[in-house]
Amino acid sequence: MKIIFFAAMTMNGKIAHTSDELVDWTSKEDKQFFREETKKCGVMVMGGATYRTIGRPLPGRLNVVMTRTPDMSKNQEGLLEFTDKRPVELLEELKQRGFETVAVTGGAQIFAQFLEAELCDELAITIEPKIFGRGVNLFADLTRDFSLELIETCTLNPHVVLLRYKITHA
Ligand SMILES: NC(=O)c1ccc[n+]([C@@H]2O[C@H](COP(=O)([O-])OP(=O)(O)OC[C@H]3O[C@@H](n4cnc5c(N)ncnc54)[C@H](OP(=O)(O)O)[C@@H]3O)[C@@H](O)[C@H]2O)c1
Repeated sequence: MKIIFFAAMTMNGKIAHTSDELVDWTSKEDKQFFREETKKCGVMVMGGATYRTIGRPLPGRLNVVMTRTPDMSKNQEGLLEFTDKRPVELLEELKQRGFETVAVTGGAQIFAQFLEAELCDELAITIEPKIFGRGVNLFADLTRDFSLELIETCTLNPHVVLLRYKITHA
């Protein structure tokens, strides 16, 4: 099973101003890219804080929300699931259920935990032409370094770059 991170960040590596901010500052091309790619995966995994900024499941793929207080009564068949499983257990379950590619869609805490646990094969990073004076870093509190291999670059529009990396490990 392949695990791909999807993130849009500013030129100085921020994914939001604050943890409760809805990301509404990305380009329409990035939104389209995100929508298409995550639908292709069929499942996206996000943290509780990210889900709360959106407030609803995104249609056309399974939304798995990692939270320490899962309220399963809010699950919606095939669309929305809350879980407190550890990343490795969650991915094993998704694999058993037949998902071949999993989109990990943030935020910073979730990206950091999956990366630290070596549960990432690829990163698809969109760089929006912005610099935030303060904000949430792509990864929260990483404890070590990682090496990447650049596998693709393209422009989504004349101002927005998409970078795809493979993890080659530290
Ligand atoms: N630009 C982008 O591409 C992008 C992408 C995604 C998110 N964002 C932004 O990033 C911000 C949120 O990032 P964040 O780092 O603050 O939060 P986050 O990673 O989205 O979510 C953190 C939450 O996830 C849950 N969680 C974390 N680890 C867990 C574990 N091991 N087991 C179970 N639950 C776990 C907890 O939820 P509970 O509190 O419910 O227990 C925790 O509070 C928002 O502003 C969002 O809009 C930006």
